[in-house]
Amino acid sequence: MKILGIETSCDDTSVALFDSEQGVAENLVSSQIDLHDHFGGVVPELASRAHLVNLLPLVDMLLARQELELGDLDGVAVTNGPGLIGALLVGLSTAKALAVAGELPLVGVHHIEGHILANALTAPMKLPATVLVVSGGHTEVIHMPEVGCYERLGGTLDDAAGEAFDKTAKLLGLPYPGGPHIDRLARQGNPDRFRFPRPLQKDPRIVFSFSGLKTAVRLAIEALPRPLVEQDVADVCHGVQEAIVDSLCQRLFQAAEQQGTPAVYLAGGVSANGRLRRRVADEASRRGLHFVPPEPVYCTDNAAMIAYAGWCHLSAGRRDGLDLDSFPRGPVSTWR
Ligand code: KG4
Ligand code: ZN
Repeated sequence: MKILGIETSCDDTSVALFDSEQGVAENLVSSQIDLHDHFGGVVPELASRAHLVNLLPLVDMLLARQELELGDLDGVAVTNGPGLIGALLVGLSTAKALAVAGELPLVGVHHIEGHILANALTAPMKLPATVLVVSGGHTEVIHMPEVGCYERLGGTLDDAAGEAFDKTAKLLGLPYPGGPHIDRLARQGNPDRFRFPRPLQKDPRIVFSFSGLKTAVRLAIEALPRPLVEQDVADVCHGVQEAIVDSLCQRLFQAAEQQGTPAVYLAGGVSANGRLRRRVADEASRRGLHFVPPEPVYCTDNAAMIAYAGWCHLSAGRRDGLDLDSFPRGPVSTWR
């Protein structure tokens, strides 16, 4: 089966082809980072317009590179939520038009299910598993007994982990999105210089809170001599990253222990973070749990994960009609 995937939930326009015989045949991503950088965050209206301009040319490019016609495909999978509603509508309307034109089945995919199943593009997933979803808009822990079954165990009470990276990067004058810059700069940071708060550590629930971090970082930066020197920035990056990674690891392994799952996974943009991947790998091996970090290209937003998730739905006999709607928020739901 050849499934076309479309992802436009935020600021990346992406199309991909998942072929059940050969895996990901194509994964094209047109980033809008330069467009939004000037504003320090994603401007929804600009994102929608950029998707409108870029999406169909990307689909054309994909078909041309693969020497395929629309009718050679076996389905169209599209992210229909959660995300920026205007951005989602561009992807969804395009997917419907392609499905009608090619007489192809259409399937809507929850963005977070896409991120979770991206792990299967790296190596076959060992299930049941406990999955930590960490992206720009989500921080939650999910129990996954099988593909299509997702039970939310808990999540953040305020900001998402990616938001915490991006907000503190902004305070340091680093470009958007800040996560990759903090990841890189933290490597040169002094581990003993800054210790930022780890709230809720004694709370028995699977909860996170990152909103206080921004204030603590702001106060620390304000106390530094101007102009900021490279070492000061690196030291703050190190402190922030350690605080975020500590909270994430604590709850992931607490949840895995409660559920008794033999495997843990990371999903979403923040799972590209080098320190998080290493810490989870070390702790998983110490506890004898299975863990394979997702390939970095499948951590941040991409359509390969959507095409693959679409293939899982379609091969289980699930498809959507042309009345498929989009939604701005909502938990990943069980469909199996
Ligand atoms: O999953 P994603 O691409 O988009 C959403 O669905 O939100 O995640 C984007 C988030 C951003 O906050 C970005 O700063 C963060 O992932 N991110 C990282 C790294 N790469 C991306 N955070 C920390 N370290 C990284 N290497
Ligand atoms: Zn995402």
